[in-house]
Amino acid sequence: MLEQHPKDPAERHLIIILTFILLLFSLSSCSDTQTRVGLVLYNESDPFVYNYARSIEEHAQGVFSLSRADSGNSQILQNEQIAQMLDQKLDLLIINPVDRLSVYSIIKRQREMDIPVIFFNREPLLKDLDLWEDAYYVGAKAEQSGRLQAELIMELFGNDPRQLNRFDKNGDNVIQAIILKGEQGHQDAEIRTSEVLRIFHDQGYAMEAVIEVANWESTQAYEKMEQIAKTFGTDFEVIISNNDAMAIGAIKRMKEAGFFTDTNGNGRIDPLDELWVPIVGIDGISEAVELIEYGYLYGTVLNDSNSQAQAVVELSEYLLGLRKEQEMTYRLLDDTYVWIDYKVFTLD
Ligand code: GAL
Repeated sequence: MLEQHPKDPAERHLIIILTFILLLFSLSSCSDTQTRVGLVLYNESDPFVYNYARSIEEHAQGVFSLSRADSGNSQILQNEQIAQMLDQKLDLLIINPVDRLSVYSIIKRQREMDIPVIFFNREPLLKDLDLWEDAYYVGAKAEQSGRLQAELIMELFGNDPRQLNRFDKNGDNVIQAIILKGEQGHQDAEIRTSEVLRIFHDQGYAMEAVIEVANWESTQAYEKMEQIAKTFGTDFEVIISNNDAMAIGAIKRMKEAGFFTDTNGNGRIDPLDELWVPIVGIDGISEAVELIEYGYLYGTVLNDSNSQAQAVVELSEYLLGLRKEQEMTYRLLDDTYVWIDYKVFTLD
């Protein structure tokens, strides 16, 4: 059958122009909609991880399409979610593992399917990451957060281990501390706790610490605080929390138990108030920042999820051939790691 060509040259021109526009349109849209990336979270109800995931989505907008899955703190469920994404032949997976020590089998499957994988927030062992050149980790050094937290507290107590200031309430020159610890075995919980203790010790401070595990969770910290208050009353001088969520839970319980009073009526709880107890966290989530503004939380260490999310997205772009390595804001080290710095956050 003969094709019917428009005879009129103006009509022909119009068709050529329209075809060209259509072609341009389809080419420009293929960079974002056709590249499909999976984002798997260990537990969306963790406020830090929730914000982190939102930032990843924001940075990825218009760059690639993202399918998100929440593993609800179950490694079994997470394995199924990953298997499904691999079956769908997504181009890359971004994984926040439930059990950071069991990524060995995840990496092996990714390698078999030749689909690169970026882990974040829960750090796999180097020997597992070393299984495959296309396995990466984006995170922040837990040691640094422990050190910054310790420095914040030392400064509060006057920076002189031989003579603590008035925050040593009972004047015994020993800091009585409660440490709220995150999930056992998590690199951040283990290292933040041991670093704080080590630094105080190395700097010559005497410290008596009671460690309570509250698994990163506000409600668990609230319950633990109930016990602590029964056992110690107000006989402790600082609460060092591995994260903000647990500090927030402790503050909630302490508020109810009358640990804070606004003696000068200025609407804030401040160090001059009789019953002030310094509490420090880590993460810098918005609720914590608000509590710092009202004086309930002394300070926190910013675990910069927005920069980490940006690093995750830029590394993804690099692995997908959408960005050159030199164009990444944060450097890729040893072909495996991107590290983002922590920062101290107080009212000052
Ligand atoms: C830590 C963070 C915690 C918790 C944990 C989950 O880095 O400080 O609040 O979110 O990750 O893996």
